[in-house]
Parts: sequence; C-alpha cells; structure tokens
Amino acid sequence: MEKDTDIYPPSIMSLAKNAKYSGRMNAPDSAAIIKGPCGDEIEFYLCIKDGLIEDIKFYTEQGCTATIICAETTARLAHKKTIDEALGISPQLVKNILKELPADHSHCTILAVSTLYRAIADYLLKD
Ligand code: FES
Repeated sequence: MEKDTDIYPPSIMSLAKNAKYSGRMNAPDSAAIIKGPCGDEIEFYLCIKDGLIEDIKFYTEQGCTATIICAETTARLAHKKTIDEALGISPQLVKNILKELPADHSHCTILAVSTLYRAIADYLLKD
C-alpha cells in the first residue's frame, strides 16, 4: 500500500502535518458540513466580527490527506479576511497554490471551498 509520503511531496505534506486550523469550535458564529460524493466530509467553523473572519477551524473525521491539505489551505486563505474577500477564494486558487496536489484530488479543493461558502451562507442567513 502506498504511503502518504509516496503520494504527496513534502511541500504540501507539511500542510497536513502542521494543520494549525484543524479542530472544532465550541461556539462559532456559523458552521457547515458537506459530504462529498467520494464520502469525505469537511466541517468549517467561523467566528466573524464586523464582517471579518476572526477565527476559522475545519474538521474532517475520515478525510484523506488531500482533504486535510485543501481544507487547511482554504482556512489559511480565509483567516482574517472579510466575508467578501473570503467569497473570492475559489477552488482554482487553492489548486494554483497546491501545484503538486495529485490531479485525482482536484475535487478536494471544491469540497473545501464549497464548505467554506456554506459556512459563510449560514452566517449571512442569520442576519
Ligand atoms: Fe474526496 Fe478529498 S478524497 S474530498
């Protein structure tokens, strides 16, 4: 069986090993969970103050390493951004940053960004 280190180069593997935004949040302002067709699930939690994403966490119970890498990258991009700026984050942007992400994991970028969008929508619909 192939090991993660055989699949992912160190440059992106380090994002999974040092995922500083991984975890759940007790009292977020908004949250979302999406299960992708592959079976992986991502949760996003947001703390938003004056339109700014003050804190962000993601959690994946059974997500593969690529899912963690994509969610971590999405969280890094969104942290301390305005809602409008966060809505400018696209799967293509995440893919451009993760140049060495294996092509068969491109859909992980879509799942990560879609879950972020849904968490933002959860916040906007509460207002
Ligand atoms: Fe499906 Fe990553 S393997 S979201």
